Amino acid sequence: MSASVDSSPRPDASGDASESSILVRPARAADLPRVLEVEQAAYSSPWSGAAFETLLPRDGQGVYFRVGVLDGRVVGHGILWMVQDEAELANLAVEPGFRRRGVARHLLDHLLDEAGRSGVARVFLEVRVSNEGAQDLYRSRGFELVGHRRDYYRNPLEDAQILRLDLTPS
Ligand SMILES: CC(C)(COP(=O)(O)OP(=O)(O)OC[C@H]1O[C@@H](n2cnc3c(N)ncnc32)[C@H](O)[C@@H]1OP(=O)(O)O)[C@@H](O)C(=O)NCCC(=O)NCCS
Repeated sequence: MSASVDSSPRPDASGDASESSILVRPARAADLPRVLEVEQAAYSSPWSGAAFETLLPRDGQGVYFRVGVLDGRVVGHGILWMVQDEAELANLAVEPGFRRRGVARHLLDHLLDEAGRSGVARVFLEVRVSNEGAQDLYRSRGFELVGHRRDYYRNPLEDAQILRLDLTPS
């Protein structure tokens, strides 16, 4: 994943929405315009609309494409795909104005539950070495550093950390 280096202020990051208003559900075609807006706000090298469109019909067939909905508005998305008993968290993004309200944590927990139920033994992900916020989230869920990929990201050029979580069968 290639996180944006945008560090602009988060105007409503201290808002009082409670986590109970966060819903995670499968993405639908009607969500794609919002997903793309969030993606473009979150990453310096965003995925294309076509990339998300391709994933929609594969949902449940080795791909989990979920959206995070806060007070009825799609504000984040998470994508995990599986290859045999391993999975990769391929995308996790939340719109800047709705961060630090637990949306990413809900998306991640939901995807990890799905992976566990599908018999996945290990989940991998890449994260920019400078992306300490995301790293904190992943560490809080048990991910561990298992390697680096040199110059993995563009825009700007940066190494990736490779993180891994071993799942206990559920
Ligand atoms: C990383 C990202 C998905 C987090 O989304 P979020 O909804 O704000 O995350 P949450 O509110 O669920 O945060 C859960 C925990 O993660 C950690 N965390 C998340 N963002 C953080 C930040 N900017 N600084 C420090 N810790 C952070 C905190 O431990 C946080 O718990 P707390 O708020 O109780 O302290 C979001 O910042 C984003 O979209 N960034 C750009 C894209 C990106 O980097 N994606 C990940 C690529 S690997």
